[in-house]
Amino acid sequence: MSDTGEEWQVARRRKGAARKSKPLQVSSAPTYCQEELDIGKAVKRIRDTVSELRCEEFCQVWKEQLLVAGSAFLSKPSKIKDAEDPTDQPETGRQLECVCYGLGSFSSCVSARYQLAMLLLLLDAGQIPAKDCSVYDPAFSSGEKDVLRELGLTVLTENEEGKRLATKPTLFYLMHCGKALYNNLLWKNWSARHLPQMTIIGNSFSGMRDRTIEREFKRDYGYISQAVDACEERPLPCPSRLIDVFSDTAVITFPTSGLNRLPQSTWTEPPEPQYQHCPDLEIILRETLRS
Ligand SMILES: C[S@@+](CC[C@H](N)C(=O)[O-])C[C@H]1O[C@@H](n2cnc3c(N)ncnc32)[C@H](O)[C@@H]1O
Repeated sequence: MSDTGEEWQVARRRKGAARKSKPLQVSSAPTYCQEELDIGKAVKRIRDTVSELRCEEFCQVWKEQLLVAGSAFLSKPSKIKDAEDPTDQPETGRQLECVCYGLGSFSSCVSARYQLAMLLLLLDAGQIPAKDCSVYDPAFSSGEKDVLRELGLTVLTENEEGKRLATKPTLFYLMHCGKALYNNLLWKNWSARHLPQMTIIGNSFSGMRDRTIEREFKRDYGYISQAVDACEERPLPCPSRLIDVFSDTAVITFPTSGLNRLPQSTWTEPPEPQYQHCPDLEIILRETLRS
């Protein structure tokens, strides 16, 4: 697996999605050497991309869908089945936070740059201060981390492997990431208390199910496989020109009504995913100390 982010494949076009105009070319060659990244120029480039996207109609729909999803769980405290202590409810009515994993090397990959620009627009729409948005990708160069800090974002220093507990309403932005990252995130939040705190903008879970052999999907990605039937997915539009950048994306939320459809037994000591049967795991794991 490359750790430069350049050899990653972007998701294939959705079935039936017609290509109307020439799609954006996703270059695999770095546009300039990462060690020599000019922070000012890189920031300007991202801001230019933000301006370009801001004028796109589809972008408006993304922002609206985020607000619809956000309002569903920010406005009122949810009544949940497994809450033993009513005083111990998750926080609601508060500012959204954001966590972004797997953005990719945005100084060399056009897709990643557009996705970063979209992230900035979504933060703006959700009135999420940039500092409340944490970003992590093992592929980031030190120059790219500087650029992200210059944009005001918080760069995480540890590989969480996607295992971040949503103790507050949180937007997770995972564009075209490997299934293991989503599965880990779901595992960490696998309770009727924490899942409703999450809004994911990322690959459609039902799309993942449709593209994966059923037996393997259930065995290796059990949390996604169960979540497909419990979550609510709102597909996000994508112009054909940007198909490699924004295809197959949805806003995913976890309404209590959907979670209540899952058997009660699912919440009892959910096992941590191990991925013993996945030789081509699309996640970079934390480095473990050798004894
Ligand atoms: C398929 S690429 C997608 C890159 C980019 N978003 C795009 O669409 O071109 C998956 C990304 O996930 C990142 N990734 C892998 N393991 C990760 C981890 N543990 N935490 C965060 N990101 C990770 C990779 O470095 C890579 O940039």
